[in-house]
Amino acid sequence: MSDRIRDDDVTIAFSVPAVHRLRFTDDVFGADHAVLHDLLEPSGPQPARVQIWLDDDVDQANPWLREGIDRAMAPILHRAVRVGNFQVVPGGESSKNDIHLLERMLKVMNAADLDRRSYVAVIGGGAVLDVVGFAASIAHRGIRLVRFPTTTLAQADSGVGVKNGVNLFDKKNWVGSFAIPWGVINDTRLLETLSDRDYRCGFAEAVKVSLLKDPAVWQMILRSTAGIGRRDPELCQTIIRASAKLHLQHITQGGDPFESEEARPLDFGHWSAHKLESLSHYRLRHGEAVATGLAIDVLYSSKKLGLPIDDAREIISCLVKLGFSFQIPELADVETLMGGLEEFRQHLGGRLTLTMLRAIGSPVDVHEVDTQAMKDSIRQVYQLVKSPSLKDVLA
Ligand SMILES: NC(=O)c1ccc[n+]([C@@H]2O[C@H](COP(=O)([O-])OP(=O)(O)OC[C@H]3O[C@@H](n4cnc5c(N)ncnc54)[C@H](O)[C@@H]3O)[C@@H](O)[C@H]2O)c1
Ligand SMILES: [Zn+2]
Repeated sequence: MSDRIRDDDVTIAFSVPAVHRLRFTDDVFGADHAVLHDLLEPSGPQPARVQIWLDDDVDQANPWLREGIDRAMAPILHRAVRVGNFQVVPGGESSKNDIHLLERMLKVMNAADLDRRSYVAVIGGGAVLDVVGFAASIAHRGIRLVRFPTTTLAQADSGVGVKNGVNLFDKKNWVGSFAIPWGVINDTRLLETLSDRDYRCGFAEAVKVSLLKDPAVWQMILRSTAGIGRRDPELCQTIIRASAKLHLQHITQGGDPFESEEARPLDFGHWSAHKLESLSHYRLRHGEAVATGLAIDVLYSSKKLGLPIDDAREIISCLVKLGFSFQIPELADVETLMGGLEEFRQHLGGRLTLTMLRAIGSPVDVHEVDTQAMKDSIRQVYQLVKSPSLKDVLA
């Protein structure tokens, strides 16, 4: 500390009031359209302008959707009115990888005369939510965003969060913003057309958050792998809702919603996941990469931090029962994958901080990594492909 003192300098802490609205429904564009009435406020004396953005794959798989939206909005025209055409964005990571799309989106928002009391409503998977959400967050320094997540992953995790972003320089979410959505509507009907591959992905994030924060939810997932495989609606909804609430609780009560501190506790298993996604040129889905990252980090936790090896085995076996595979060639290049540690640190700055597990429900932040133990963990996960028995590999 220097002894520089000036009377007119000011350092003042302040907090900003914020509201997060998460709604659960079975049919927001049908029987339960009252959700829209409650969520969309008029813009002063005028109805608010609403621009709708659709994930192309969701749009194509649900031919009823556009009409359903208009029917659901018809009774609330005094509060909110849809403007312009439906805007369609290619589904999946390709939209996050195309920075030029962003400018086109801003042009469309400008052409529709959206203002800060307008709504950008986006219906789609996590990738489309991230890119449209980012555009909305910088247009006029922030247009109200209403997300309708259509994947289990987005309903259980990303759609509920306060982050937007796109990929740049071959790095995940290198450009982005923190912005609290006006509202998030988790509608089970919107999951019906999701492929089994994508349906499974959300449960990787549910496993993650339950291991960190709620052993009872973890036990429930452990007991439910067969039901999840069958897409049992009640069971799956219970888990997705529990996961969404745990994520939301962390964001609203964890004391660091915009991640200005050194830890990113919700990113357990993510340092390698992000690297695997980019190394695979996004062939891997985020949920698949997270399942792999979790397997690596629970093994590391068992080697270095006291997580019982039986727990690590049980977690990995649960991921396998959920249908995740570790047959990922990028795991063979251990050195390159280890580069993900430094990229993870750089994204946040400061010291490296990884959240690991001391026990289920008992996370711990570590600032140093035993390189050999981490490389061994990666190799063991890769070997699981060859060995039919977890016990042989994870002895
Ligand atoms: N912002 C955050 O906090 C945060 C957190 C976690 C993940 N993410 C991001 O979310 C993205 C992954 O999202 P995702 O797992 O939802 O997958 P996704 O958005 O990549 O969607 C996967 C595929 O499913 C299609 N699809 C989506 N819903 C469908 C439906 N109901 N019917 C038919 N097809 C449908 C999509 O068009 C896409 O082709 C990644 O970019 C990841 O980085 C963001
Ligand atoms: Zn994630």
